[in-house]
Amino acid sequence: MEGIYLDHAATTPVHEDVIQAMIPAYREVYGNPSSIHQFGRKARKILDEARRTIASSLGAGEKEIIFTSGGTEADNLAIFGVTEASEGRHVITTSIEHHAVLHAVQSLEQKGYDITYIDPEPGGEIDPEKVRESLRDDTVLVSVMTVNNETGVRQPVERIGEILEDHEAHFHSDGVQVLGIENVDVKEMNIDLMAFSGHKINGPKGIGFLYVKEGVPLTSRLYGGEQERKRRAGTENVQAIKGLETAVKLKDDTGEDTVRQYRKFKSLFLDTLRKEEVSFDVNGENAVPSIVNISFTGMNVETLLTNFDLEKVAASSGSACTAGSVEPSHVLSAMFPDEPERTTNSIRFSFGLQNTEQNVEEAARRIAAVCKRLTK
Ligand SMILES: Cc1ncc(COP(=O)(O)O)c(C=O)c1O
Repeated sequence: MEGIYLDHAATTPVHEDVIQAMIPAYREVYGNPSSIHQFGRKARKILDEARRTIASSLGAGEKEIIFTSGGTEADNLAIFGVTEASEGRHVITTSIEHHAVLHAVQSLEQKGYDITYIDPEPGGEIDPEKVRESLRDDTVLVSVMTVNNETGVRQPVERIGEILEDHEAHFHSDGVQVLGIENVDVKEMNIDLMAFSGHKINGPKGIGFLYVKEGVPLTSRLYGGEQERKRRAGTENVQAIKGLETAVKLKDDTGEDTVRQYRKFKSLFLDTLRKEEVSFDVNGENAVPSIVNISFTGMNVETLLTNFDLEKVAASSGSACTAGSVEPSHVLSAMFPDEPERTTNSIRFSFGLQNTEQNVEEAARRIAAVCKRLTK
């Protein structure tokens, strides 16, 4: 039986073009990009080109891109970097952020910062008016993700960006799940800091970047060399950065067709479940085409995941970081405070490049067979 991977929001396979771009970078480019000799200059050229490609893809300037080890580090750098460099002691965020943001702001809270956590509306969206109402004179940072990794719900970040135009607070958004799904233009979105990761867009793991608008104060988190304009010390991962650049180019070239495909996959997947008379609800409204979070009536998440795995369908219970633990999802708990069963019977399915209409339909049929077996 063919394995069917529906867990692309956790991570994606590395694209063959990315591998092909990284191999010569490994074989031929071994200089340290900070060295001034020709070997170093060759490595520096890769960094410069990648920075240019990525900046232009986001509508940003080259100086506004900082390479990091991934989305987690980019989120941490934004949150700690801005708060340390500024006076205010109040931060606004949401209760549905990825742990890379949530645990970072909780650590600020332990240091004496005042944190406002905004809960989502039942559809999973954050109401921008609640952000406006929470603003104070000493609000230094607002952090609201663009796409939620568990439900796929697209947040109204543009509206929040507009509200913040008249306020001193800096606006950070975790953009990890939007890259490759929508065209991102940081200037149009009025975002000051935005975090991204390579492995969600068919790039390598362990590489990502933070967009930081010119003029936004940012303290470095690492002590060491003067890399990344003194904002992120440490020798850059040249080969992974080459891979990241290739992945960004790929998504820019094929993005619209890909997303059209994902939209088809999602409706085919849900239609097949309905046809097979599976009893379910979709968690969240206005989700991106690549992610669907489903609550299976009367089921238990661990039994479902184990049985899906036996049927060779890979999915996940929300965030990969908490998969394997029995903790209920903090995102679904915030969305459905009066329906606790949703936190224990919900599964996230996420589509990607190697899915086809055939394997998506086949996956839905296998899932339906599991549900029928378990309800007997
Ligand atoms: C929304 C979101 N933010 C941050 C991260 C962390 O990114 P990374 O795995 O590159 O550290 C993830 C990964 O699961 C994510 O989905």
